[in-house]
Amino acid sequence: MKIITIFGTRPEAIKMCPVIKELKKRPEIECRVCLTGQHKEMLQQVMDLFHIQADYNLQIMKQNQTLSMITSEILNGLDIVFEKEQPDLVLVHGDTSSSFAAALAAFYHQVPIGHVEAGLRTYNMQSPYPEEFNRQAVDLITDIYFAPTELAKKQLLNEGKNESKIFVTGNTVIDALKTTVSEEYQSDVLDWCKGSKIILLTAHRRENIGTPMEHIFEAVKRIVTNYDEVKVVYPIHKNPKVRSIANRIFEGCERIKMIEPLDVYDFHNFMDRSYLILTDSGGIQEEAPALGKPVLVMRDTTERPEGVEAGTLKLVGTDEDAIVLETEKLLSDVNAYTSMSNAMNPYGDGNASRRIVDIIQKIFKEK
Ligand code: UD1
Ligand code: UDP
Repeated sequence: MKIITIFGTRPEAIKMCPVIKELKKRPEIECRVCLTGQHKEMLQQVMDLFHIQADYNLQIMKQNQTLSMITSEILNGLDIVFEKEQPDLVLVHGDTSSSFAAALAAFYHQVPIGHVEAGLRTYNMQSPYPEEFNRQAVDLITDIYFAPTELAKKQLLNEGKNESKIFVTGNTVIDALKTTVSEEYQSDVLDWCKGSKIILLTAHRRENIGTPMEHIFEAVKRIVTNYDEVKVVYPIHKNPKVRSIANRIFEGCERIKMIEPLDVYDFHNFMDRSYLILTDSGGIQEEAPALGKPVLVMRDTTERPEGVEAGTLKLVGTDEDAIVLETEKLLSDVNAYTSMSNAMNPYGDGNASRRIVDIIQKIFKEK
């Protein structure tokens, strides 16, 4: 059977590369990898780390790309790929515009769709935007749902999806995490942080760009001003809009180090050495509970309530005072810190990719 995996952004790559590695181990499966190219450098970092070469790259990325540009260019570009490859199954991941457009293209070509990380929901179309739409839309046309948790499965069932098509597999991000974190990890940035409490910062969400992101950065600035022992490391997303806000607000802040995006080996190890994490990312909310690192989630909603329940994540929104208050609590109150830093992993045992490929093979053998 021929399976084509289609993805285009950093988080999709991190979570699909372990699946591709597993697909490539099976002699009965012909595996093709198609990149939409929604991301460029940030995606290539992941492909290099996992030593995976793409068969196709639509190379659609442009500075300040709009959602319509991404979606229409992927749809157009994929026509040729589908016509040439005639796959038996398409695998997409999560909730990006690449995932949505690739699933839609598969639907138009009448190719069955497997959705990895299916069933995450906030039920708020504006948060995260446009990801909540993307994942719900993909699940409307999905044929095999790979739900990372029981909650994700329950949400799919509540929407009337067919139970026989839903499989709880764990999240493939844990598969990736198992291969990256190392006690021996060293780096120049880590040396720069020596003796300090490290706050790891990431922020990129479309709905936060503008005033909410200004509030986030002003809060971080206040925290380093108030606490001499804190140093902030910010691997900054390539988005020029994010960079322009960060450069303006963090100018002259010596204890805030803005660096280029880290590859996932560096990033996971950096997470592991951090005191706490401030982020609006989705994937980091899944990794931090496994590492026992407190995360303040700077968003109004989360589709990862399992991490909140595990005690490692707290939803703080984007209000400047709230971010400062909650961070200061973790910096000064040992009990508050300890209660959030227990390693609890609600996202599986690191064998999600093997499970996903086993399920696919079983379904196709029974056909
Ligand atoms: C996308 C996803 C989001 C995901 C995020 C992960 C959508 C709508 N959004 O958002 O769900 O959380 O990826 O990071 O699918 N850029 C580069 N080089 C890169 C990557 C990006 O220069 O390697 C710049 C480009 O100028 C690009 C901009 O970043 O126009 C924004 O990228 P885009 O993919 O549109 O949005 P993200 O915020 O990355
Ligand atoms: N990540 C990375 N380098 C960085 C920042 C993040 O490799 O400099 C990883 C992180 O470990 C996680 C993923 O990227 O696995 C999250 O991606 P991102 O925050 O871009 O997107 P989201 O998860 O919000 O969709």
